[in-house]
Amino acid sequence: MKRRAFLSGALSAATATLFARRAFAQDAGDAMHGMTDMPAMSGGMMQAQGPLAAADALPAGAPLAALRTLASQSREPGQFRATLVAQPAARALLRGKPQTVFWQYDALDALAATANDGPVIGPLIDVREGDTVEITFVNRLRQPSTIHWHGLPVPPDQDGNPSKPVAPGERHVYRFTLPQGSAGTYWYHPHPHMLSSEQVFRGLAGPFVVRAADDPLAAWPERHLFVSDLKLAADGTIPANGMMDWMNGREGQYVLVNGARQPHIEVVRDERWRVWNGCNARYLQLAFDDGRAFTQVGTDGGLLGAPRGGVTSLLLAPGERAELIVHVGQGASRASLIAAQYDRHKMAMTHGSLPAGPSLILANVGFAPAGAEQSALPSRLRPIAPLISSGSLTVPEKSVVFGEAMDMKAMHAPGASTQPTPRGMRFMVNGAVFDPARVTLASRRGQVEHWTIANGTDMDHPFHLHGTQFQVLARERGGVRKEEELLAWRDTVNVQHGETVHIATVQHEAGDRMFHCHILEHEDLGMMGTLRVS
Ligand code: C2O
Ligand code: CU
Ligand code: CU
Repeated sequence: MKRRAFLSGALSAATATLFARRAFAQDAGDAMHGMTDMPAMSGGMMQAQGPLAAADALPAGAPLAALRTLASQSREPGQFRATLVAQPAARALLRGKPQTVFWQYDALDALAATANDGPVIGPLIDVREGDTVEITFVNRLRQPSTIHWHGLPVPPDQDGNPSKPVAPGERHVYRFTLPQGSAGTYWYHPHPHMLSSEQVFRGLAGPFVVRAADDPLAAWPERHLFVSDLKLAADGTIPANGMMDWMNGREGQYVLVNGARQPHIEVVRDERWRVWNGCNARYLQLAFDDGRAFTQVGTDGGLLGAPRGGVTSLLLAPGERAELIVHVGQGASRASLIAAQYDRHKMAMTHGSLPAGPSLILANVGFAPAGAEQSALPSRLRPIAPLISSGSLTVPEKSVVFGEAMDMKAMHAPGASTQPTPRGMRFMVNGAVFDPARVTLASRRGQVEHWTIANGTDMDHPFHLHGTQFQVLARERGGVRKEEELLAWRDTVNVQHGETVHIATVQHEAGDRMFHCHILEHEDLGMMGTLRVS
């Protein structure tokens, strides 16, 4: 059925009014202003969630906090060994309200520190190409979890697949060696079956950087901006997903950078920034509000072939990362780093699409005037060989099609509202919801393949493939095909509604790899498949 109209007709007059009011409120762009949220899908679909905290209830303007670094317990060169515990951690966020309980990754020896104020974001794992990494994961949550090493070329059985859950109270050792050429900006987060969305929105996610011995930008001052999203109720709790969260992906009233609202950054000389979109569903159209340009030097899987200067806006879909060079000013100046308006065509409850939300301030930045000792950016960063030369493009070997179906009957059936995840909303790959027992696609290791990712829905979905970095070849829409000019290593690419993205990809190890939409609610609801590599 046409999902743009899937709810009309099935609702009581009272509920319809509630939905209509929400639609009106959305039109007024209130999503960021702490009005009443949608009825909750889980725990009572037609029960309204409590009111949200006001959009300015969290303090803003503190200096950008540095991320904690995970210390290695090993003294041996080339060995990184540590323990990561996933457990509840409380933070005093709202004045006069109980502390907010997040779920957090922490080092084992930092248990006393979890009661502190630092960012909830997991500690930075900072290693070098060639290192062997051994992480003992201790699950102190009340639900199964895993750690997935997003974007890293780790063996399939070490990658935190949903088929390998770590039970509450259990521990598990992940072990992998990072090959040459893997330097880049990655992250880690849980990937348990149908629980990834909740575990990430409650705080479980952390950055992972792999460095190359011959990094041409090694001498540059480096800054990390890990962007996350927070929906906070007025009573200080983090509410469960409501129906709109499941449908469009959860977006809270706060976007945080290194765990804080609108931090302040002073740029006194040109800096290398690594930016992560660790939000469940929020798209970040990165820009400065005065239109100033920056330089892009890297994507998910590391440096570009050459710097790309004069960039004034860069889209980071959920899960994506970028490396930027941010330049000091001609004179002293200030600007806001913003997530500019981006229309990803979110679904409305009644019919049609929601309008794009307003642009948001991520951070406020002061720029010093350019000094004398600015280092010049090298004109070449590293060689990138095309996996497939564009001249020899053949018929795609694999086709992935994102689809959606909304079933009103199931959504409103008796008992549907007591399910932990909504009934009747289907997010699919190649016509089917994820089934752990089914292999969706099969590949041979070492074989370079041309895939198409087609988005047959009316909403954008970011495609992510585990275990490798791929290259985007072309994007096709309405019969018009545009070759991709930027040769870059990625593990996540946005696929606009109605768009088909062509990629070249290769897997190097046998085993099962996941691929999915990185709007984590959609992943949990089944927009995921298994690639079996033999
Ligand atoms: Cu970052 Cu399978 O995900
Ligand atoms: Cu991943
Ligand atoms: Cu999606």
